[in-house]
Amino acid sequence: MQSNAVVIDNYGSSDVFRNEILNVPELKPKQLLLQVIGSSVSPFDISVRKGVFKDNFSLDMPAITGTDVVGKIIDKGSSVDKFDIGEIVCGMVGVKGFGAYSDYAILGQSKAAKVPESMSLQDAAVLPMTAIPAYNALFDLGHLNSGQKVLIHGGAGGVGSMAIQLAKNIGATVYTTASARNIEDLKSLGADRVINYHDEKFENILSELDLVIDTVGHDTYKHSFEVLKPGGRVVSLVKQPDEILAQKYHVNAMYLSGKFDNPLSKVVDLVSSGKIKLHIQKIFSIDAKGVKDAQDYYESNHVFGKVALMK
Ligand SMILES: NC(=O)c1ccc[n+]([C@@H]2O[C@H](COP(=O)([O-])OP(=O)(O)OC[C@H]3O[C@@H](n4cnc5c(N)ncnc54)[C@H](OP(=O)(O)O)[C@@H]3O)[C@@H](O)[C@H]2O)c1
Repeated sequence: MQSNAVVIDNYGSSDVFRNEILNVPELKPKQLLLQVIGSSVSPFDISVRKGVFKDNFSLDMPAITGTDVVGKIIDKGSSVDKFDIGEIVCGMVGVKGFGAYSDYAILGQSKAAKVPESMSLQDAAVLPMTAIPAYNALFDLGHLNSGQKVLIHGGAGGVGSMAIQLAKNIGATVYTTASARNIEDLKSLGADRVINYHDEKFENILSELDLVIDTVGHDTYKHSFEVLKPGGRVVSLVKQPDEILAQKYHVNAMYLSGKFDNPLSKVVDLVSSGKIKLHIQKIFSIDAKGVKDAQDYYESNHVFGKVALMK
């Protein structure tokens, strides 16, 4: 079986994308073969294309990228027991796998969640790469509970806008940082206070927090230690823990990596019941030009929420 795919032969600028026809590999026992319906642009996909992670893992070229996927199951491996052919699922394709910028993609069943009819396919296309890190950071590493106070940096981003809603949904008090134009939208997602990081210093405003989720790094990460209460936690998606600062402020510092149970089905339920909303700023097509244009758009605009790619 063959697939039209958007491939790269080298790391580099968005000009590296080209259309190619590739053979679809044999499925492993726990894998699903999807007819791709949609995907998204994520900062991770852009970094992979640029070769930012090439010393950690190298892609076999030509490589198909695209991590988020929603698609229809058209075949399944011999040990798949949670899904059936014909179902629509979303999930995260492994970075060295048969990616989503293609007609067909291969998704491990442990990375998948069923998409109910009440959920839009566009929402499903952009959900996994926002929902999974936001959930893992808040609950698996951050141990956030009802009644606690959390600061979520980068509230307008894909992960931030999801984290605000997940934290609010369990009854936390939510503070976030964002540009002025996003303040009202983030309040409507549930943020109790939005701090305009261009004009105000969050470390002069907040104190005694239980948790900070850092999606920004740099000085934002360093100042985050100042607003925690002793025993509090800072979970960064972008910075390895600064143990010196952690000891100085008597808090715990963690970097989001590692494996946790897949929380995607729980978030799918929240989206399909209307408790969590996704914002899709623009939609592009899944071909070499569409992927290039989508990633260029993402890099040259402060996107609120996500950019989707649809068949
Ligand atoms: N470790 C992991 O497993 C993991 C997983 C997922 C993501 N990540 C990383 O986490 C980061 C965020 O991901 P994302 O998908 O949410 O990115 P994104 O959608 O590109 O969001 C970036 C947002 O950050 C905001 N921002 C920029 N500078 C800021 C500052 N100084 N203070 C507060 N907000 C600021 C911008 O908001 P305004 O428009 O309001 O200025 C922008 O909307 C990325 O670097 C990504 O690679 C890591």
